[in-house]
Amino acid sequence: MREYFWFLAGAVLVCGTLYFFYIFPEKGAGIEQPVYFSHRVHAGVKEISCLFCHPFAERSPRAGIPDVEKCFFCHKHIIPLHPEIQKELWYLDNGVPVPWARAYYIPDHVHFNHEPHVRRGIDCRVCHGDVAKWDRLPRVDFKMGFCVGCHRALGAELDCWLACHR
Ligand code: HEC
Ligand code: HEC
Ligand code: HEC
Ligand code: HEC
Repeated sequence: MREYFWFLAGAVLVCGTLYFFYIFPEKGAGIEQPVYFSHRVHAGVKEISCLFCHPFAERSPRAGIPDVEKCFFCHKHIIPLHPEIQKELWYLDNGVPVPWARAYYIPDHVHFNHEPHVRRGIDCRVCHGDVAKWDRLPRVDFKMGFCVGCHRALGAELDCWLACHR
């Protein structure tokens, strides 16, 4: 009887651990957002252009996050009764911007500008990863070596104070 107990306890422990590691990558992958939004569905399956939702990346420092009105450009007609779209509707009706959590970080004192990079034809994926494959974006902290490595390779500005630490 005692042997059985330990056998069972061991089996439960092993299975529990395996299950934890099995589900953990899914649960751990990506940050929580106030409304479910999937880049895989929109940019991947439906092939909506990145610049349709982030148009400022081409012409200003920040790429911009679409406001609720833009969601309803489509969702007024597409699955308007979906529970997540109903949540989104609350923000629209109350004039409250969706408090999207940030995913990509650089230190506060670093200056970054999308425009020169996007104009030079550097694909979004080079810096953000294959966003169109992800339901939820991961949290990413850019390290200086990443910026400097490419600047060196492409002969871009390397004078730190002039380029980035203004
Ligand atoms: C050379 C690297 C690089 C490229 C290329 C790049 N980004 Fe970014 N992106 C960044 C960095 C760094 C940040 C964080 C900036 C910050 O915190 O000020 C960022 C932030 C963002 C943000 C959130 C904040 C904001 O700017 O409004 C969005 C959205 C975004 N990028 C979209 C895009 C899209 C879409 C493209 C392609 C058209 C793109 N990025 C190309 C490096 C890049
Ligand atoms: C250019 C059109 C378009 C825009 C803009 C758009 N969507 Fe969608 N969305 C779609 C389409 C198409 C689907 C797929 C509908 C289906 O599967 O029947 C979808 C699906 C969804 C779903 C269901 C996801 C799932 O897993 O099935 C949610 C939630 C959603 N969108 C939220 C948003 C939010 C939030 C915004 C604004 C930030 C937004 N959408 C902007 C076209 C759009
Ligand atoms: C239908 C609209 C839509 C399309 C198309 C879209 N995005 Fe987004 N994007 C959003 C929304 C809404 C958020 C904020 C929610 C989130 O982070 O998931 C966001 C967030 C981001 C961020 C994170 C910004 C941060 O907070 O740090 C990046 C980077 C980004 N998008 C890049 C892309 C790229 C690259 C593509 C094309 C492959 C793309 N997006 C296509 C709507 C869109
Ligand atoms: C994949 C290559 C690549 C990566 C990664 C990259 N850059 Fe750049 N960056 C460039 C190129 C190329 C230019 C010059 C664009 C041009 O022709 O104007 C540039 C220009 C700049 C400029 C503008 C300098 C000026 O003329 O005003 C700043 C600022 C900058 N990068 C900051 C950063 C920061 C900060 C990061 C990291 C978060 C980064 N870059 C990552 C390639 C890259």
